[in-house]
Amino acid sequence: MTAREIVPGVFSVGVIDWDRRVFDELIPLPYGTTYNSYLVQGGDATALIDTVDPAMTAGLMGNLDELGVEKIDYIICNHAEQDHSGSIPAVLDRFPESKVVTNEKCRDLLADHLHIPEERFITIGDGETLSLGGKTLEFIMAPWVHWPETMLTYLPEDRILFTCDFLGSHYATTSLYVPDECEVYDSAKRYYAEIMMPFRSGIKGHLQKLESRDISIIAPSHGPLHDKPAFIMDAYRDWTGDAVQNMVVLPYVSMHGSTQAMVDHLVDALVQRGVEVEPFNLSVTDIGDLAKALVDAATIVIGTPTLLFGPHPQVVYAAYLANLLRPKARYATVIGSYGWGGKTIDNLKDMLGRLKVEFIEPVYIKGYPKEADFAALDRLADEIRKKHEEAGVITA
Ligand code: FEO
Repeated sequence: MTAREIVPGVFSVGVIDWDRRVFDELIPLPYGTTYNSYLVQGGDATALIDTVDPAMTAGLMGNLDELGVEKIDYIICNHAEQDHSGSIPAVLDRFPESKVVTNEKCRDLLADHLHIPEERFITIGDGETLSLGGKTLEFIMAPWVHWPETMLTYLPEDRILFTCDFLGSHYATTSLYVPDECEVYDSAKRYYAEIMMPFRSGIKGHLQKLESRDISIIAPSHGPLHDKPAFIMDAYRDWTGDAVQNMVVLPYVSMHGSTQAMVDHLVDALVQRGVEVEPFNLSVTDIGDLAKALVDAATIVIGTPTLLFGPHPQVVYAAYLANLLRPKARYATVIGSYGWGGKTIDNLKDMLGRLKVEFIEPVYIKGYPKEADFAALDRLADEIRKKHEEAGVITA
């Protein structure tokens, strides 16, 4: 990768990770990612805003070499997670006069995770500024973008907001700015779903806090920059808002075809009633696609057979994840088939305890579905349609 000028005195010096396919050993990255780092050169001092994943330190150093950077005074750390902070020790070593500028919580996390000594920190608070000479960095606390210490950095002279994970996307591209809004929308929505959705109300507050700011460029630390900030801000307003869509998300597993037959029937019955549905066969599902679908669906229907005494383990995984991610769905239920007994329904209700959903009567049957069972699925489709009407997401 190469360094690129964003505006005079502000450069993109991060790296592209084309081949990374999983993050946190959990999140699929179908489009790779980038670790963006930014160099801001003022008349008096130079700052580096966030660094890169430690596996790619050499790329960052190469970009600094390319620009002939001989001195860095400040390393601004917006977020302590290692994909942004992991190269800080190497930068501190290379620029012995440099200091890490961050908030108190982030400082403590960096000390714990990267063993950075106390004397290398400058601790700042919300609204504080740092002058580089003709360029000012203002620090805006934005806790719980997904960790407790997250913050944003604003450069008023150039109207650039550096947001780290917030408003970013796992999307590897050589384009400095968003090259294709549809593709980046998709990646940004996946990313929001995977790490920020559990903090929806806080994220909403961060968006409101930014409303009074004059922003011409949003510079996240993953994915391309936004030179049309309204695109990503509006998308986030939709995702964090309370409105749900006329959509059923249906994660399921079938072992011998009984649950599959129920899923197929329910999908058709919902479509016939004007309700959109996205089924996810968990044996082949990209969990990021499922998380993305959960962002604004009105209803979650879980399809599972009973394995031994409870839900299939793949369904347990998906339900656990959904419970952690806390989508804003209003309704939930379960369909599926058992062989001889078990506590599948009770187990799943317990597993989804963090969701604020109304449980609709499940359709849980013994063996392969019979005519009466398909009729029960039709009644479930009727009920979901009625609930969506009541929620105002579908008009009668
Ligand atoms: Fe991209 Fe939370 O780190």
